[in-house]
Amino acid sequence: MSSPGPPGSVDDGHPDTDARVAIFGPNPLLTVTLEIEGGERQSIHFHAGGQPVWVARMAACLGARPVLCGFLGGESGELLMPLLEHVVDGGELRLVPTTSASGCYVTDRRSGSRELLAMKLSDPPSRHELDELFSQTCSQAIACGWLVVTNPLPAQSLPLEIYGELVADARAGGCRTLVDLSSPRLDSALQGEPDLVKINDWELAEYVRGPVSTPQLMRAGAQRLHDGGARSVIVTRGELPALVLHEGQFTKLSPPPFERGFREGCGDSMMGALTAAWARGESFEQAIKLGAAGGAANFLRRGLGGASREVVEELAEQVTLEAWPATGDPGEGAAGRTDPSGAVARRGSS
Ligand SMILES: Nc1ncnc2c1ncn2[C@@H]1O[C@H](COP(=O)(O)OP(=O)(O)OP(=O)(O)O)[C@@H](O)[C@H]1O
Ligand SMILES: [Mg+2]
Repeated sequence: MSSPGPPGSVDDGHPDTDARVAIFGPNPLLTVTLEIEGGERQSIHFHAGGQPVWVARMAACLGARPVLCGFLGGESGELLMPLLEHVVDGGELRLVPTTSASGCYVTDRRSGSRELLAMKLSDPPSRHELDELFSQTCSQAIACGWLVVTNPLPAQSLPLEIYGELVADARAGGCRTLVDLSSPRLDSALQGEPDLVKINDWELAEYVRGPVSTPQLMRAGAQRLHDGGARSVIVTRGELPALVLHEGQFTKLSPPPFERGFREGCGDSMMGALTAAWARGESFEQAIKLGAAGGAANFLRRGLGGASREVVEELAEQVTLEAWPATGDPGEGAAGRTDPSGAVARRGSS
């Protein structure tokens, strides 16, 4: 890291063991999952889920204290509250009560793949509810020194300008801001000049409104994000090497690739691990390796956002970081496929 650290970080290379990370996660969800265990035994699992929850859970697994800032309401919210307390594990919840019930979904994994049976999402918040969440998040972001910004669900439920304002206000208070948003929320957040944008190749294709299926197109897309306001950029592609743009260098971040697992929440787990490591004073390079390992560890589990710290740290030793090729194949080999927009599609989707 070349720039000075925000409150809560250290620049002398000694990890800060008391790292705190604020997470803007408007819509934590109640999830109900049907499973078959041991061939025949039915089981029903109740968890807190969704992007901010998976970020928070992995950040806590890596030893940081997450401060989850979001909305909570209704019957589903009452059930969700104790589950969220469990997720933040020593961190904090800053939950704004809403008249609308928290979102909930039911999935069936008894066949081995994931089938969505039912989903009910929240209504948009009132102006007062949103103002309260915005102010709570800003004050927590500045107190923690680190902020991760995640999407709402439904995606269009908040006014677009809020993302850029949140990033700008948090940064003005000395906070490092990490963004995992898709367009058009991403475009708004860029106006606040976030420290890091992490998106996947599909989201990059949406942002540039064109294909990103070659190493050159991915580089150009990452450069466009940088020119648009992102200080550093990571573009992930599941088990394929991710593209990193940091301090003018393009690098290839390669996890140990796994074929059998669940890809939902891998990016969110990556954000959680990366932010926790960066916030406790690891170098950017080590933080992104731990991030890649956090995503890989999540793929190996059904728990979504959960993994043991030992597994993540061991997998991180297998993660490599090397120069991104200016031309040719960045590493996908025969597995690379293209969707209609030209983005590289991936195996292992659930
Ligand atoms: N099959 C896999 N094998 C190894 N590592 C994986 C695999 N899938 C994901 N990862 C790790 O997780 C990171 C993020 O994955 P991915 O590109 O799927 O994120 P994402 O699409 O943002 O996910 P989501 O939005 O569902 O959380 C990858 O860069 C990689 O380090
Ligand atoms: Mg993602």
